[in-house]
Amino acid sequence: MGAWFETVAEAQRRAKKRLPPSVYSALLAGSEKGLSYDDNLAAFGLLGFAPHVAGSSGTRDLSTTVMGQTIDLPVLISPTGVQAVHPDGEVAVARAAAARGTLMGLSSFASKPVEEVTAANPRTLYQTYWMGDRDAMVRRLERARAAGCVGVIATLDWSFANGRDWGSPTIPEKLDLKAMLRFAPEGLRRPRWLADFARSGKLPDLTAPNLAAPGGPAPTFFAAYYEWMQTPPPSWDDVAWLRAQWDGPFMLKGISRVDDAKRAVQAGATAISVSNHGGNNLDGTPAPIRALPAVADAVGHEIEVLLDGGIRRGGDVAKALALGARAVMIGRAYLWGLAANGQAGVENVLDVLRGGLDSTVLGLGLSAARDLRPDDVLVPPGFTRALGVDAAP
Ligand SMILES: Cc1cc2nc3c(=O)[nH]c(=O)nc-3n(C[C@H](O)[C@H](O)[C@H](O)COP(=O)(O)O)c2cc1C
Repeated sequence: MGAWFETVAEAQRRAKKRLPPSVYSALLAGSEKGLSYDDNLAAFGLLGFAPHVAGSSGTRDLSTTVMGQTIDLPVLISPTGVQAVHPDGEVAVARAAAARGTLMGLSSFASKPVEEVTAANPRTLYQTYWMGDRDAMVRRLERARAAGCVGVIATLDWSFANGRDWGSPTIPEKLDLKAMLRFAPEGLRRPRWLADFARSGKLPDLTAPNLAAPGGPAPTFFAAYYEWMQTPPPSWDDVAWLRAQWDGPFMLKGISRVDDAKRAVQAGATAISVSNHGGNNLDGTPAPIRALPAVADAVGHEIEVLLDGGIRRGGDVAKALALGARAVMIGRAYLWGLAANGQAGVENVLDVLRGGLDSTVLGLGLSAARDLRPDDVLVPPGFTRALGVDAAP
């Protein structure tokens, strides 16, 4: 079997074979019954295409601009806390994104320091939650700025849902001897994953180095999570305050409703991502692709509208662009690629999406991804969900 894979589904199969079951299941994630997780994927399958058969040019332009950056394809890396997937973690993802001409979204819960990630891809967006006190938030943004990040993503949607019907993996606080003995059988069943870490000379350390206090050690993932849980959620004034702390492009991630999208505009955001956190958050939130058209209609002329959730093929990217997104962000798709084949696996995923988008644009009879319009897709009756339209400020 060659290392190259032709679909994201194949990358996922390889990730499942390669990763210890608890790591695989932490990436699969989802919450509660998985209604949102399922809808994120199924909704794309309900949309069809309306192709022209002549009249396009021989080459297609897939480039666009997002948050002041020109990117070679309208697909960004969405921030994920990639603990224990691969020893090179977010650095490998950042390199792959740079090699394919796109932006790297770095989670504040990531396993690699922001400085190493911006060295691998200077076009990094630092993701933050509303977490800790204001001084801590400002300090983290200052560190991201000093490291050279070109923008910020503030993720607003999170409910601390902690159950899922298919079971949550047990994740140790840290990999001490006791935890290693407990997880040894899983690791031994996945010798290639173990060998990757053995070669790197390091065990997954399950810490969040970007959340360290000045001069202090990186907190464990769980200590950081606890700090977040103790922080009362922000008001819209708090969001506007946070935005004012970053002198540059700023995205609000996790928007589903038109009224929230309008508030994001008022708060001074550069961009929003219509997102339900990949179905990991409030279960029952509709797939972002269903909520996108109303949001794009309402604010698309004032702010850059992106989408994340459920993107697994280039055709999905085309559908999102046709329904009003400027670009999309991917989460699990690149995590599967990273698990399957490190940096090359992430590049492979971006190539799969690029190839699929290119052939969709060709098949639709267009010459550029930015020319995609609602008329290019078949939207079945009752598909869209216009949330919060009447309550819009
Ligand atoms: C394992 C995992 C960890 C995630 N961690 C974060 C995070 O730290 N910050 C964040 O804003 N979103 C996080 N997300 C959500 C992703 O950024 C993105 O919204 C989601 O994965 C998109 O759905 P998709 O996986 O179907 O592409 C995470 C998602 C997964 C699967």
